[in-house]
Amino acid sequence: MEITKVVIPAAGLGTRFLPYTKTVPKEMLPVFGKPAIHYSVQEAVNSGIDNVLFITSRNKELISDYFDAAPELDAFLENKNKLHEIKDIKQLIKSTHFSYIRQSEPLGLGHAVLMAKPFIGKEYFAIALPDDIIMSKNPALNQLIRIARQEKATVIAVKEVPHDQVSAYGVIRIKKQITPNLFQVDSLVEKPSIKDAPSNLAIVGRYIMSHKIIASLEEMSSYATSELQLTDAIGHMLQQNEKVFAYKVEGTRYDVGTPRGWLKAVVDLGLQDPVYKQDILELVQQYNQSFYLKPREITL
Ligand code: G1P
Repeated sequence: MEITKVVIPAAGLGTRFLPYTKTVPKEMLPVFGKPAIHYSVQEAVNSGIDNVLFITSRNKELISDYFDAAPELDAFLENKNKLHEIKDIKQLIKSTHFSYIRQSEPLGLGHAVLMAKPFIGKEYFAIALPDDIIMSKNPALNQLIRIARQEKATVIAVKEVPHDQVSAYGVIRIKKQITPNLFQVDSLVEKPSIKDAPSNLAIVGRYIMSHKIIASLEEMSSYATSELQLTDAIGHMLQQNEKVFAYKVEGTRYDVGTPRGWLKAVVDLGLQDPVYKQDILELVQQYNQSFYLKPREITL
């Protein structure tokens, strides 16, 4: 099973980050020096994928500019011996083919994935939601690819979340537990209330999909009211007797689609950086002391 393509839906409005997102796409929020979307693309490329399709919308041109050559900048940095500052993105651009399809109306994640139909063909493919950043030694998509090959089926990434948070996620009902981290899925619910949640295993934005999802999305689109949900189409595939597995991925996950999750990612990644770790720790210590001694007189 060769998995060489990833679909990255990046058409959302990013209203949680207004007014910043009035002009800058939320996918371009800086997460410790790199735009948030860089991390999902890097993860896909580190998992052996070399074909990336972004589903974008109006005002998202900065994404395609970022994943394109910048000869003037290269020449400038080369002159100053600073080309290493953009080496990661240059490497991504060199090794990867990028395409773009625009979604003209916000009709949901399922609709965004359906727009990828001409790109997918009859193969298994990956989906990575760029709001989810998963930091792990073995890239999360690579972990899923291994299971998809082993089971010859669709696999979705899950994580255990506190029960009071289930309503922010797609949640699975387990049919069978195969290993401590691998489950066969019975059914799924998108954003259930706490009392209706079939488990606390929440989908975390990484999928390896059979191309059959397209037929299910097409079928479900005739029933969808305002938004077409990917989770509902996966449920439809299950009803067609397709097997779907869920894998508890290893790694730290950040939800950079919310200000709180974004802040956590910035601080956590900063703490892992030898240059900034000390600065952050000192700053926090200063805050703590100022809070107890003289609230409001904090020197930065
Ligand atoms: C989407 C999916 C949901 C999943 C979540 C993970 O929801 O629909 O099933 O759990 O991503 O981040 P969204 O956060 O886009 O509303």
